[in-house]
Amino acid sequence: MQRLADKVAVVTGAGRGIGREIALLMAAQGAKVVVNDLGGNTDGTGTGKIADDVVAEIRALGGEAASNTESVASVAGGESLLQTALDNFGGMDILVNNAGILRDKTLFNMNESDWDAVIDVHLKGHYCCSRPFAAYIRKESRTGCRIINFSSVSGLFGNFGQANYGAAKAGIAGFSRVLALELAKYGCTVNTISPGALTRMTIPLRENRGEKVEEEAMEAGGPQHIAPICAWLAGPEAASITSEIFHTGRGAIAIMQQPAIIKRFVKPDGLWSLNELDQVVPELIEARKANIAAAATTAGDAAG
Ligand SMILES: NC(=O)c1ccc[n+]([C@@H]2O[C@H](COP(=O)([O-])OP(=O)(O)OC[C@H]3O[C@@H](n4cnc5c(N)ncnc54)[C@H](O)[C@@H]3O)[C@@H](O)[C@H]2O)c1
Repeated sequence: MQRLADKVAVVTGAGRGIGREIALLMAAQGAKVVVNDLGGNTDGTGTGKIADDVVAEIRALGGEAASNTESVASVAGGESLLQTALDNFGGMDILVNNAGILRDKTLFNMNESDWDAVIDVHLKGHYCCSRPFAAYIRKESRTGCRIINFSSVSGLFGNFGQANYGAAKAGIAGFSRVLALELAKYGCTVNTISPGALTRMTIPLRENRGEKVEEEAMEAGGPQHIAPICAWLAGPEAASITSEIFHTGRGAIAIMQQPAIIKRFVKPDGLWSLNELDQVVPELIEARKANIAAAATTAGDAAG
């Protein structure tokens, strides 16, 4: 059974890496796919026609696809995605916000253009592509739609040297939670994926540590491992699942905690004194440590 038969999916950054695998799997599941990719370098410079290659690949396998080479970082680019879907396939049901770049530097060395480029492609890119789709869903009363966003442990946990990327990826998690609320009444789910995969974005990090990335490593940890949960979330079985963050890669599938209050003290009759906080804050920190330990146990159980 093809789970995405008659659906129209737009996958951004689908010319290579994780996006390409998602486009191929969604097409194999019957979706008509708009393959978007600017075709640039990892740092966001340059352009290329790699989206056309993935379209040709999908067609050669008997699927349906159309190419879009606009940048997700502009409002016009985001609008063109919906237009490409309407022009070629007459509708749009699924948006995968996957396109991304990196400009890793510590804050000491990060200039304004490094900050802006990364925020523009990731965080603003999610806005640019989601807004026209959301407006279309509401105007057309299109039911059963899906938005799948891409965050990262860089923003969810924190990672040295990625203040721009981490801020964008944490922002995307917040964006997703709000969008899930706003689109709920239209039956559209909004979920987030935190992937871990060997792609041109991450292979250099391995190689810088002196590790060689060969075929075996790609089989064990390549971008093909991210596509299944993405296609599943786009399918009918995921109709009631929204506002979740799934972490996946190397054969593992996990669900993330979301921000929530762990422990709370209330002083109804006035302001906390600093001396009182000397007592209360360590108790809050202990509660947080216990929470981390409990979550680590659960994660270990699940993996085992
Ligand atoms: N690979 C990982 O381990 C990992 C970890 C965490 C998050 N992610 C996220 O997953 C997503 C996919 O990453 P990947 O590893 O496949 O990287 P990748 O570099 O292989 O692919 C990203 C694609 O996005 C395209 N792109 C960049 N800017 C664009 C723009 N403005 N408009 C349209 N396309 C654009 C690129 O040309 C590229 O083909 C990204 O959002 C990334 O941040 C990846």
